[in-house]
Amino acid sequence: MQYYIVKGGNKLEGEVFSSGSKNASLPILAASILNEGKTYLKNVPNIHDTEIMYQIMELLGVKIYQEEEYIVIDSTNIYTYEIPDNLMRQMRSSVILAGAIIGRCKKAKFSYPGGCDIGVRPIDLHLSAFKKMGINILEEDGVITCDAEKIIGNTITLDFPSVGATENIILAATLSEGTTYIKNAAMEPEIVDLQNFINKMGGNVVGAGTKEIKISGVNNLETARYEIMPDRIEIGTLLCATAITKGNVTVKNVMIEHLIPLIYKLEEIGCEIELKDKRIHLKVKDRLNACNIKTMPYPGFPTDMQPIIASVLGISKGTSIIIENIFENRFKYLAELKRMGAKVTIEGKTAIIKGIRKYNATSVEATDLRGGAALLIAGLNASGTTEISNIKYILRGYENIDEKLNTLGANINIREGE
Ligand code: UD1
Repeated sequence: MQYYIVKGGNKLEGEVFSSGSKNASLPILAASILNEGKTYLKNVPNIHDTEIMYQIMELLGVKIYQEEEYIVIDSTNIYTYEIPDNLMRQMRSSVILAGAIIGRCKKAKFSYPGGCDIGVRPIDLHLSAFKKMGINILEEDGVITCDAEKIIGNTITLDFPSVGATENIILAATLSEGTTYIKNAAMEPEIVDLQNFINKMGGNVVGAGTKEIKISGVNNLETARYEIMPDRIEIGTLLCATAITKGNVTVKNVMIEHLIPLIYKLEEIGCEIELKDKRIHLKVKDRLNACNIKTMPYPGFPTDMQPIIASVLGISKGTSIIIENIFENRFKYLAELKRMGAKVTIEGKTAIIKGIRKYNATSVEATDLRGGAALLIAGLNASGTTEISNIKYILRGYENIDEKLNTLGANINIREGE
């Protein structure tokens, strides 16, 4: 097991670049399977989740290599349509490959994603959409087999604007016959990135970023070069890390419009923020204030930022109320934050946080990706040494986060241990 050893108390200062978006890279890598040839992707983050994605794609027959600043995905040959169970378990979001494999092979076989660290992750919306597109689905002993003679466009109204279901429908519909309309689609920026990439390959998707997306099926796609958008959650994490240390940092390579809900909240609690071109500068002078947060689908406050801003609110003046509306089990990390002194009570999907002055350094365990990041930034605030175990969760989704924070003045080391 690997640990982060965080010597807290330093203010973060300086400039840092954001990495490419994890949540845009995963569906875009999946989409590259739809092209019977090469695709060139720039700015794919070097993280555990993309590594697992490469491993699954290589097992399918895809060749993946680096050429200068591009990852080259050669999907000329696909030999199988099965995602191995052990890799599926390592990354729940590998279900996003289903739509792409069905689109390419008209067949797919994968195991049920089941529960995960932030709650059950059902895929009923994905599967019922596939059925509406003429795909037969057989569920047996946790294994899902999909096959279709033809994938046929249809109108699909989602009960909930699921990000993954919206992406999977786009992927399955890209090479289909006819036109697919997704109503009540998720509007997250990563879906716009997926649309832009598919269109660059010659697909025909319009409306991503709104509640209705139209996908007109095309016969084939062609080679494209594409640069993945910046990671709005990583950027948010760097901003919160700055806020919690009363620092003064500029994050570069930012799409400001993706961060508006977070920027409003950071300003509300007293952060001074300047926005310019593709940069966000954040500075904190006085003790921050409490605020209330409700997570919502985009353009609401992102659930992925909930644990991270909670960590900041834990040392802010007054009482904050957080309502988690997207995932039912996304407060696990709060038990660990309490070990660092946080004053928290949880009632169902509501967490009530009474701000303390400073966290205590102690040993804590990362419970999931964003919950782990919440503990990491709490460690930057605490005086003394915080030891965070199970950092594999954090490494799933953050590229060199320890090095990035260290260049801003943090003191984080990785220790190998039992
Ligand atoms: C994606 C993001 C994740 C983010 C989430 C919400 C990726 C790889 N992951 O996850 O970081 O936290 O969006 O912004 O992009 N649901 C169903 N049935 C379904 C599908 C979803 O009930 O078939 C429910 C889920 O249990 C959850 C809610 O819908 O409560 C939102 O899930 P969804 O938007 O699908 O999230 P993901 O795509 O899994």
